[in-house]
Amino acid sequence: MKFILNNKIEEIDAPLGSSTLDFLRKKGFTGVKEACHEGECGACMILLGEMKGSIVKYKAVTSCILPLGEIIGKHVVTIEGINQEKLTPIQEAIVEEGASQCGFCTPGFVMSLTGFFLNENFVKEDILTAIEGNLCRCGTYAAIKRAAEKLAEKIAVDNLNYSARINYLIELGVIPDYFKDIPAKLEELNEKLETNDKGIKVAGATDLLVQRKEIGKPVFLNQMEIRDDIWEEEEYIYIGALASMEDIRLSKKLNELFDIKNDLTVVSALPIRIRATLGGNLVNASPIGDLTIYFLGLGAEISLRKGEKRRIIALKDFYKGYKQMDLEEGEIVEWLRIKSIKRYFNFEKIAMRKYVDIASVNSAISFEKEENKIKNVHLSIGGVAPVPKYLEKTSSFLNDKKVNSEVVNQALEIADSEISPISDVRGSAKYKRLLVRQLIIAHFMALFPKMEVKL
Ligand SMILES: Cc1cc2nc3c(=O)[nH]c(=O)nc-3n(C[C@H](O)[C@H](O)[C@H](O)COP(=O)(O)OP(=O)(O)OC[C@H]3O[C@@H](n4cnc5c(N)ncnc54)[C@H](O)[C@@H]3O)c2cc1C
Ligand code: FES
Ligand code: FES
Repeated sequence: MKFILNNKIEEIDAPLGSSTLDFLRKKGFTGVKEACHEGECGACMILLGEMKGSIVKYKAVTSCILPLGEIIGKHVVTIEGINQEKLTPIQEAIVEEGASQCGFCTPGFVMSLTGFFLNENFVKEDILTAIEGNLCRCGTYAAIKRAAEKLAEKIAVDNLNYSARINYLIELGVIPDYFKDIPAKLEELNEKLETNDKGIKVAGATDLLVQRKEIGKPVFLNQMEIRDDIWEEEEYIYIGALASMEDIRLSKKLNELFDIKNDLTVVSALPIRIRATLGGNLVNASPIGDLTIYFLGLGAEISLRKGEKRRIIALKDFYKGYKQMDLEEGEIVEWLRIKSIKRYFNFEKIAMRKYVDIASVNSAISFEKEENKIKNVHLSIGGVAPVPKYLEKTSSFLNDKKVNSEVVNQALEIADSEISPISDVRGSAKYKRLLVRQLIIAHFMALFPKMEVKL
């Protein structure tokens, strides 16, 4: 099983479920640093290039939680594969702004910034988002920010198509000349992963490779017929289980209905959002899974498939107990769907840090309005029960109600009776109960800005 590592074809000689970072460092590519090994710090950032039609498209990803099976037939670029005789403009900007002290984080920042200019969804103003998954333990952030902002002005790729962009970045010295030959080399290599269907199902592996050092007997779901796109059919919008968090965040269709682009900025960091999938978020069954809470609050349904057999259930009926789901042996989550109608919707997340952190408590609500009454209400809350919680009683109480301060107060009481938070590192049970009240009030303040809630 082969892939291209920088400018050379390499053979994989380690288990497919093991970490790409460990493989690279063993091969001597020690510019790829190891720190958290959990996808949190960006020290191990690499570029992963994949053939899309006749061109290779690149993304910056954390190699510590990237299983080797994912690099077969692709182009892996480490800092060693970016380095040239002269510093690249990105490295130069870091030096000029004094944005490197001990230097441990610097290769990771260089790779994330290089990935920013190669990202298909390039938006100049988003340069700081490109480095939101990188930590600098020396705290050189002000200088790094200056360097990044300077680069966003200096490297103008806005109006270039992808192929023209690669050529321009080569001309500027951002990436080396050999990038030109990669599409032909990958085409010639034509290496594909072959997988069976018995073993641990792997989607983005952002959960699996944090839980264990190696995935034994991995079954890569992207080799099965599961969609990774978002499409519209009859009265529904469908999201394939393999759609990434970032593709969902940027989906044009979904953004016509909700402010999902903005809502999901508080979900992990870009390198994780690029890899983590919807299916993984649902099946990982974390009580605080952000996509799970988001789509529970939209009254979503999911399709479960085993061979040709398919059943469609409400997402709220999927969760049975802590990490227990209505999922039979061999069944996979195939897609999720929501009604393609504009609903009143709000999502709230409280975490110890606003960005790049999992929630202490999160919540979503949606409803329609008819003659001053709210209808078809769905209210979800995370982090206060063993499962991602759909507030069944509170939702049905709110149905057909004209919203006022008294109704909100009654809803708060019912919600309080539906939850069972426990004290843990993310807050005491008492604090989480308080957060639930605050988040529900926040929903109504966002959706009824003129209403005054008297407690
Ligand atoms: C640094 C970091 C930050 C994070 N921050 C957040 C955050 O802010 N919010 C949040 O919600 N989560 C966060 N996560 C958790 C995690 O990444 C997500 O829950 C993610 O969506 C998991 O998706 P995946 O594709 O990587 O799943 P994987 O790790 O590939 O799989 C997870 C589980 O789901 C199963 N599975 C996957 N897809 C399917 C399918 N289609 N059918 C059946 N089974 C399937 C797998 O077998 C496995 O048991 C974070 C993780 C990291 C490492
Ligand atoms: S080592 Fe920290 S993100 Fe990979
Ligand atoms: S410069 Fe030392 S960790 Fe960033």
